[in-house]
Amino acid sequence: MEINAKSYFILTYGCQMNEYDSSLVEGILEREGYQRAARFEEAEVVLVNTCSVREKAEETAIEKLRNLQALKRGRPTVKLGVLGCMAENRKEALFASLPKLDFAIGPDHYAELPRLIGGAEKSLALGNCPDDPYRGMFAVSGGAVSAFVAVQRGCNLRCAYCIVPSTRGPEKSRALADIVEEARRMAGRGAVEVTLLGQTVNAYRAQDGNWIDLLRAVSQVEGIRRIRFTSPHPRYFTAGIVAEMAELPKVMPHMHLPVQSGSSTVLRAMRRQYGRDQYLATVARLRAAIPDIAITTDIIAGFPGESEEDHLATLSLMREVRFDQAFMFAYSPRPGTPSAALPETIDRTEKIRRLEEIIALQLEHTRERLDARVGAVEEVLLEHPSRREAREWVGRTPHFRKVVLVPPGEARPGQIVTVRINARRGQVLWGETLP
Ligand code: SAH
Ligand code: SF4
Ligand code: F3S
Repeated sequence: MEINAKSYFILTYGCQMNEYDSSLVEGILEREGYQRAARFEEAEVVLVNTCSVREKAEETAIEKLRNLQALKRGRPTVKLGVLGCMAENRKEALFASLPKLDFAIGPDHYAELPRLIGGAEKSLALGNCPDDPYRGMFAVSGGAVSAFVAVQRGCNLRCAYCIVPSTRGPEKSRALADIVEEARRMAGRGAVEVTLLGQTVNAYRAQDGNWIDLLRAVSQVEGIRRIRFTSPHPRYFTAGIVAEMAELPKVMPHMHLPVQSGSSTVLRAMRRQYGRDQYLATVARLRAAIPDIAITTDIIAGFPGESEEDHLATLSLMREVRFDQAFMFAYSPRPGTPSAALPETIDRTEKIRRLEEIIALQLEHTRERLDARVGAVEEVLLEHPSRREAREWVGRTPHFRKVVLVPPGEARPGQIVTVRINARRGQVLWGETLP
């Protein structure tokens, strides 16, 4: 098989920001005449965009990269590169674990990618920029109904467990004008929903606008009917901001508001900058302004020093809030973060026991929140036909609940249909379309 010298393939691990960054990399490469290959076996440039947030994430990427090195046995011209947070986190040590690796490039240096690909030496492009390194650069849209748009890179908080501030550097808000232009381009390729991305996204503040200006400006983009964002930080949801957000009809009634723990003692040790009561007050504020809003969260089990009482406080906070969904993790010490210096007081078995209790309780709440929608009428944004049965389509309600339905006649992605919810199966709602 003839392989195009300018073909590339990117494998992406990690969060939505990494998914977004991979589409930004596509934009950078395509400007230089590169074309995306369908599989890495057909690419001359093979890139892995990596995550360091937990130990497991790094292990998975290293394992994959070890296997990808074998591509070079048959085709020594293949270039293999590590992108993303693990490049920044492990730096030149990556070359020792991966002898065939050609280059590693951190999240702020993707504009240098064409140069690195062309270089003969093993190379690194690392370090964080004080300002947006991608001014006037745009991600390539894959034509999806729902598109990610980064509005802020890096993070100014220093949660004790978290590697992100050291892999992505300080917070840099992207110019509002660039965000609006990117949302326009996404809409031009068929997006009807955008999800604005940032580590503390509601702290957005650029020279040409603040958070509310941004939501207003994106609301004006023709074709965009739904706006979501992730992740806001409780600290920035003042009463004024919440009231202004509630006035914007395209901002969807779903908030992903990571809590991490229900214990004020643990939250303080985590340096989260809020306590249990403040978190609950933010939830109350959101619920008062946006009735029936869906709230999802992130929880970490087994932070160093977490007592049984602290763990019970997390369960009781969950009972109080009744989250719609949660991402739940066992604490994973990340070398170089403040909490990595603390002795791990909770052994693996105990950590997993706590995590499993959290997961079991969340499952009850997820079901309860979904069951409450049975009988309701919802506006469902169609995303794609179901993989199981071609007649069925999968879509999302404004609250981000997944619905399966059989549309009347021809359906297309991006269409919004009115649906009566008839049942819940597992964590998915089933409905019938109404005229
Ligand atoms: N900026 C976001 C979180 C980004 S990281 C926020 O502050 O809300 C995504 C999630 O990974 C975090 O919310 C946290 O729950 C989890 N996480 C981060 N570091 C972790 C660690 N060392 N161990 C376990 N979970 C971790
Ligand atoms: Fe990490 Fe905290 Fe910043 Fe989120 S807010 S990215 S958890 S330091
Ligand atoms: Fe995302 Fe993982 Fe980096 S969660 S910001 S890719 S460490």
